[in-house]
Amino acid sequence: MSVDEERVRMGIDGLDEMLSGGLIPGSFAAIVGTYGTGKTTFALQFIWEGLIRGETAIYITLEESEESIVRYMQVKSWDIDQYRNTTFFVLKLDPTNFNLSINSIRNDLPPLIKKYNAKRVVFDPISLFEDLFDTDSARRHELFRFVDMLRSEDCTVLMTSEADKDNQYSSRHNLIEYLVDTVILLRYIRSNESSQVHLALEVVKMRLSAHSREIKPYEILSDRVNVYSEANVF
Ligand SMILES: Nc1ncnc2c1ncn2[C@@H]1O[C@H](COP(=O)(O)OP(=O)(O)O)[C@@H](O)[C@H]1O
Ligand SMILES: [Mg+2]
Repeated sequence: MSVDEERVRMGIDGLDEMLSGGLIPGSFAAIVGTYGTGKTTFALQFIWEGLIRGETAIYITLEESEESIVRYMQVKSWDIDQYRNTTFFVLKLDPTNFNLSINSIRNDLPPLIKKYNAKRVVFDPISLFEDLFDTDSARRHELFRFVDMLRSEDCTVLMTSEADKDNQYSSRHNLIEYLVDTVILLRYIRSNESSQVHLALEVVKMRLSAHSREIKPYEILSDRVNVYSEANVF
């Protein structure tokens, strides 16, 4: 498949191929998977791809501190310091403080996107933000509001979510998959015949685009993610 220049590349070769070149500019995507499947790794790869292309990227985190994000990128030998606070911004939300987190999303994020003309926004993980709400309807209301607010901006948005503890095919609150344009599912595959656990990904949905429906194995290496697009899990 040829790489479409109009697409927003995630920076993970095999996955970009599965997405017909990458995400659609201005669209919303979700990466769903249980802990340890690599959601943060994929999200940072998406950020890094933007930074080396000269774009501004904002990373909203509820889980990791700014220091740990920066360290994570340095371990990958990415020279992140040259981008910090010029084209790379981290917005750290407190997952225990409802008002502070909501206010920061409503009031701090839009001006930050506008001021620096951000092209890529990551929310990692949106599931901890969703946890702040007591009811499904409050959660749905705020998430719609968030997506609506970002739709008017000129940026591509990637959210990550923990999977439901009883169903690794669904996000924890079973909501964002309906809100976003693209859903990428990460999961463990345990085979009965071997003692090994494999990681596999699939593109479950992609609005307005052709995409692969195959399940592909991937590996997280020290400096990159390898998707084995020629290999099949089954
Ligand atoms: N630098 C690295 N080298 C090799 N493997 C790594 C590295 N960083 C992370 N991993 C692997 O990726 C896994 C978790 O990645 P992470 O992106 O934090 O997952 P998630 O956000 O889904 O919980 C780790 O458990 C580890 O197996
Ligand atoms: Mg994570």
